[in-house]
Amino acid sequence: MNTGKFITIEGTEGVGKSTNIAFIKAWLAGKNIDIIHTREPGGTPLGEEIRELLLAKRDESVDSRTELLLMFAARCQHVSKKIQPALEQGQWVLSDRFTDASFAYQGFGRELGLERLNQLAAWSLGGFKPDLTIMLDLPIEVGLERAEKRGEKDRFESEQIDFFKRVRDGYLSIAKAEPNRMKVIDATGSIEQVQAQIEKVLIEFYEANS
Ligand code: TMP
Repeated sequence: MNTGKFITIEGTEGVGKSTNIAFIKAWLAGKNIDIIHTREPGGTPLGEEIRELLLAKRDESVDSRTELLLMFAARCQHVSKKIQPALEQGQWVLSDRFTDASFAYQGFGRELGLERLNQLAAWSLGGFKPDLTIMLDLPIEVGLERAEKRGEKDRFESEQIDFFKRVRDGYLSIAKAEPNRMKVIDATGSIEQVQAQIEKVLIEFYEANS
């Protein structure tokens, strides 16, 4: 059976994921590709409830392992109930964040380390990975300034700059280790410049997979 492709989009706060997700969807629609758009944490009714728990600011401090396990709890539900069934039907899936975000935010940002992350990912997902990941890269200061304008900050957005710097370095080190899967896009330029880079990646991916 012709299975669909799984594309994810990643980056730190304020890099322009939403705008560029709309661009990617429109580009693929132009190629007559049936694509569903989803997000993490979230994507299923249970996952969206877990998202609320994760993003809410609370008086109690959250243990980093609790945070990591909730991310993966939502992800298991997402993969087994939504992503894999869609791919098996031949649909393409575009997810706003996936496992790379746990490596970057919990592994690097919270400094939980790669060994624990690798074990958890192998146990819960059994090697299931995106076919293509587009990482929008922007200096942390620029992204946070953009994110500021969006209104009240959630629990993650309220973190310190050093945390986000570790997250960004984490993403860049994953991209270095897996350059065929994760493509880094320089998100500092104009929308047109950013989308020209994304289009190049999409053309290459589409040609290799159609
Ligand atoms: P969003 O702002 O992109 O919707 O994502 C919500 C927040 O969750 C964002 O600050 C990144 C964080 N996150 C993690 O820390 N680990 C994860 O595995 C995922 C999927 C998101």
